[in-house]
Amino acid sequence: MDNHKTYIHGFSKDEQDRLRRQAEFMEFLVYQDVNLSEISNLLEVGCGVGAQTQILLRRFPHLKVNCIDLNEQQIEVARQALSESPYAKGRYEISKMNAEKMTFADDTFGGAFFCWVLEHVPNPARVLAETRRVLKPNARVFLTEVTNFAFFLDPYCPAIWKFWMAFNDFQYDQGGDPFVGVKLGSLLRDAGFSDVLTNVKVVYADKREPDRRKKLILYWQELMMSATDELVKSCRVDVGLVNAMKYEFSDIIVDPNAIIFDSFMQATARVP
Ligand SMILES: C[S@@+](CC[C@H](N)C(=O)[O-])C[C@H]1O[C@@H](n2cnc3c(N)ncnc32)[C@H](O)[C@@H]1O
Repeated sequence: MDNHKTYIHGFSKDEQDRLRRQAEFMEFLVYQDVNLSEISNLLEVGCGVGAQTQILLRRFPHLKVNCIDLNEQQIEVARQALSESPYAKGRYEISKMNAEKMTFADDTFGGAFFCWVLEHVPNPARVLAETRRVLKPNARVFLTEVTNFAFFLDPYCPAIWKFWMAFNDFQYDQGGDPFVGVKLGSLLRDAGFSDVLTNVKVVYADKREPDRRKKLILYWQELMMSATDELVKSCRVDVGLVNAMKYEFSDIIVDPNAIIFDSFMQATARVP
């Protein structure tokens, strides 16, 4: 990422595939309350590999999307993926652009969509002010962002927890914010949006849903493992902790009493 020191997950092919799987896996929860049926020209900020763009175009067949991202590698993958989706044909544009300083004119878009973006942004207030500038009066913004402090596994897994906090510390020190979800309401208010609504989404599974629980634990394992190289390289964790984490994951995945809990935050608001 151009204005960041390091992207914790890296930009490998594996990571790009992971982003796509992540988007599909979380689709139901993320889009449950996202209704874009009244928006025709949407700005998608931080489109990454285009995983959400594909979902957006599939779910809302009338939509045209203007995607921006800072990272050229992600954009190339997004272009490739979207060119292979017949339903996307003629309905999207992708530009390399910094959301802090967009080149779009004032009052351009009927809505804006962010998913897992502001956690990587050093100045979310500036991004939201800039987003407001390019939105038309009455346009809506939709945000989905992390609250990483909420992740918990029972039986308690101290190595996983320690690794996860090292992950979050690293992201924080790189200028990101792994807890940005809780700030969305205040950030939107400060950026001059009105009708600000926030909603905590809970991701939770116990012995009543063993298959879903297993999928969720595997999802988290994959997410954490994707940061291992960067965290070891920067001496935030050592190989001993990584091995202890792997051991705890292999135990909890077969534990009939395991419980997994997490949350994230969604917010919508309107340009007055
Ligand atoms: C975790 S990815 C999420 C991608 C996509 N929204 C998804 O859910 O699959 C975050 C993306 O935000 C982009 N990004 C971060 N800061 C940005 C900025 N200031 N302007 C534009 N894109 C940015 C990154 O390059 C990265 O592709």
